[in-house]
Amino acid sequence: MADQDIARILELEDERFDAVLAKDFDAFARLCHPRLSYTHSNGLRDTLESYVEQCRAGVYDYQRIDHPVEEVILVGDTALVVGRMEADLQVNGRSTRLDNGSLAVWTREGGTWKFLAYQPSPRPSGIQSSRQPTDKENEESMVKKVNEFRYEALPMRVTFGAGTLASLPEEVRSLGLKRVLVLATPFQKDLAEQVSEQLGELSAGVHAEAEMHVPIESAHKARERAESAQADGYVAVGGGSSTGLGKAIALEFGMPIIAVPTTYAGSEMTPVWGLTANGEKKTGRDPKVLPTSVIYDPELTLTLPVGMSVTSGFNAIAHAVEGLYAPDGSPIISLMAEEGVRALVRALPSIVENPADKDARSDALYGAWLCGATLGATTMSLHHKLCHTLGGTFNLPHAETHTVVLPYALAYNQDHAPQAMPALRRATGAENPAAYLRELSLKLGAPGSLRQLGLEEADIEKAVAIATKNPYSNPREVTEKGIRDLLTKALNGADL
Ligand SMILES: NC(=O)c1ccc[n+]([C@@H]2O[C@H](COP(=O)([O-])OP(=O)(O)OC[C@H]3O[C@@H](n4cnc5c(N)ncnc54)[C@H](O)[C@@H]3O)[C@@H](O)[C@H]2O)c1
Repeated sequence: MADQDIARILELEDERFDAVLAKDFDAFARLCHPRLSYTHSNGLRDTLESYVEQCRAGVYDYQRIDHPVEEVILVGDTALVVGRMEADLQVNGRSTRLDNGSLAVWTREGGTWKFLAYQPSPRPSGIQSSRQPTDKENEESMVKKVNEFRYEALPMRVTFGAGTLASLPEEVRSLGLKRVLVLATPFQKDLAEQVSEQLGELSAGVHAEAEMHVPIESAHKARERAESAQADGYVAVGGGSSTGLGKAIALEFGMPIIAVPTTYAGSEMTPVWGLTANGEKKTGRDPKVLPTSVIYDPELTLTLPVGMSVTSGFNAIAHAVEGLYAPDGSPIISLMAEEGVRALVRALPSIVENPADKDARSDALYGAWLCGATLGATTMSLHHKLCHTLGGTFNLPHAETHTVVLPYALAYNQDHAPQAMPALRRATGAENPAAYLRELSLKLGAPGSLRQLGLEEADIEKAVAIATKNPYSNPREVTEKGIRDLLTKALNGADL
């Protein structure tokens, strides 16, 4: 199977170069994912639309392309083609020769491989674009030596699209399950009952008692319910709380979870569980809690109130931001993280303007998927540690806390995370991503300070002590003074 996929990818690589040489840009576009990200040798980047437009306008006019492939790396439904790009072309009428390393990314959707991203590497002689890159762009170019990395793909199966909830019974059967317990919060009980009805004899009933941060008592109760219902799997419908309850049961009994997320929190993409006992939240990683299958149906997010959509979206962006400077990051994670941020910052303003905008809802959920996958594959740093402390010890609301803290945590780290900044600048279109995220959150009506969420001046020292007690990875040294300043700014909603 892998050999067949590799052979197919090699064929498609030939086809895309042939199409460009033949100036058949319609054929080229058909091979591409609509979200193609094409980075030129000087770091300038095109979308599918802008690349095709430039080619049609003759800005890029290829005469010769050779593209020896060195390796095709298959990671689930993603293929990385590592090789060289040797070409003669005219750029704005100027003869240019390319001779550089190249990385092409293909993704499989609905059984068809699509060209998703291209990036040259290492820094080549450089093609000239219609404009010269600024010094800053040169400095921050994505074209860099790919450092050593490890990447472990999580076995996940994703179904995405409006109306895909209808495929749930088929999905349950295809996993060989006979009786699944539907989990939700009390607030989403009606939705859980509809889902149960849709499942018919495949349903073992509804347990709509999920709570934020999974109190241990609620996990015990759900485990008893799963046992008495003789369930052989679970369907977790809702946000991180429902998924979290499914994980708490799976931690004890194993058995597959099918997640149907209705927020942007991203828990469905991670093997991370959380349980709260005696006021303390413990988290851990265990592959058996990773949902086996995830159905992302944007229609289910139409009811997510605007305020929650914004803060939940920022919760997702936070995963991507920290994934970009994570100690165990990798090129594929960076691509996902950047695209996730791009999709969310584009979608959230449209959702605020019109919560029923289905395209924006779809974009946001797509971004949330990518950000969640980033969270699942990497180790989070200071921002997540602070939010965990503020949620666990001071009972601050999860998504809102992420929204307020993120710009300050990023401002603390951004001069120490050069690897993350070009991606964040491209995704946000802003020179200072921390200040941009702060402004965006306020513009979209999110809470602006930790004080608004219930934190008090007197809590700061305790939070500093917890957040600095144990060492953890972070691009910048975590000092008491640094964290005190950061939290004081976030407490007061200081300008960035
Ligand atoms: N383990 C992980 O990897 C991970 C990742 C992210 C979050 N989490 C956890 O998830 C929890 C937070 O999750 P969350 O932010 O998704 O909130 P949530 O699941 O607690 O949902 C908040 C409320 O909104 C309701 N809701 C959800 N979707 C809705 C919709 N589409 N329409 C109307 N109402 C809807 C829920 O029923 C609930 O009442 C926290 O406990 C957090 O620690 C875990």
